[in-house]
Amino acid sequence: MILKHKTIVITGGTSGIGREMVKVLSIDNEVIVIGRNSEKLASLATQHQGLHVYQADLVVQTDVNRIAIEISKRFPHIDVLINNAALQYSAVFLDDNFNPQHIADEISVNLTSVCNLTYQLLSALRHGERALILNVNSGLALAPKTSSAVYCATKAALNTFSQSLSYQLENTNIRILQAFLELVDTPMTQGRGDKKMSATHAANLIVKGLNNEIANHHIGKVKLLNFLLRIAPSIAKKIMKKY
Ligand SMILES: NC(=O)c1ccc[n+]([C@@H]2O[C@H](COP(=O)([O-])OP(=O)(O)OC[C@H]3O[C@@H](n4cnc5c(N)ncnc54)[C@H](OP(=O)(O)O)[C@@H]3O)[C@@H](O)[C@H]2O)c1
Repeated sequence: MILKHKTIVITGGTSGIGREMVKVLSIDNEVIVIGRNSEKLASLATQHQGLHVYQADLVVQTDVNRIAIEISKRFPHIDVLINNAALQYSAVFLDDNFNPQHIADEISVNLTSVCNLTYQLLSALRHGERALILNVNSGLALAPKTSSAVYCATKAALNTFSQSLSYQLENTNIRILQAFLELVDTPMTQGRGDKKMSATHAANLIVKGLNNEIANHHIGKVKLLNFLLRIAPSIAKKIMKKY
């Protein structure tokens, strides 16, 4: 799909990779950003002409329902939905400071809201000749690390959801794509790892994959991980365990 004069909805466009995608996509398209922080959204709207912003806490499914109704009323035809927002907590279950509330929050933002928003915007996505849903995923969906068990599980579930939904939609105008990212330098990964890919580079690669409609886009070191999982799965899992 040539990303020009399209109507694009993106979640989590106020930070990191989402923020960088908004910069690129808003040049030639009508972009609708869903974010949880009103101040960040207002500031973003002043930086990009014609940007539409909607406030919703994706933990709260009634918020998702509310903005989905508002968006589909104002934009009855949507070309692209980018499910990008996510939460990641690093504490392990044996930590004294492990907060069990984080389990439900991570599942809500990373999985429930993706399924819900996708469902709610489906009729707007069915209006055109072709539409794309891009789920921003992680190499951790393919092989988990030790920390962030719930995050890893939500990303694996997102992968399964994307595959199954693509079967359901195969005779429609909608295609489901996924971008599987390596470690990227964003607020989510602050203080973790080194030699991270920049958020700008990651965003540009994701947009390129969208343009080319790459169904499963393995980005950076995830290409190697995917290959290793096929030829030497136990080695791949051992590497990812320590990640
Ligand atoms: N960074 C990496 O290494 C990496 C690797 C693989 C995959 N990914 C994936 O890439 C995507 C973007 O992540 P990122 O690294 O750019 O992280 P980020 O900088 O932390 O951005 C995450 C975005 O999600 C939004 N968000 C979080 N909780 C929300 C909620 N309850 N309601 C609404 N919005 C919420 C954040 O809003 P605020 O701006 O208000 O915080 C932010 O805009 C995610 O799907 C992530 O899983 C990242």
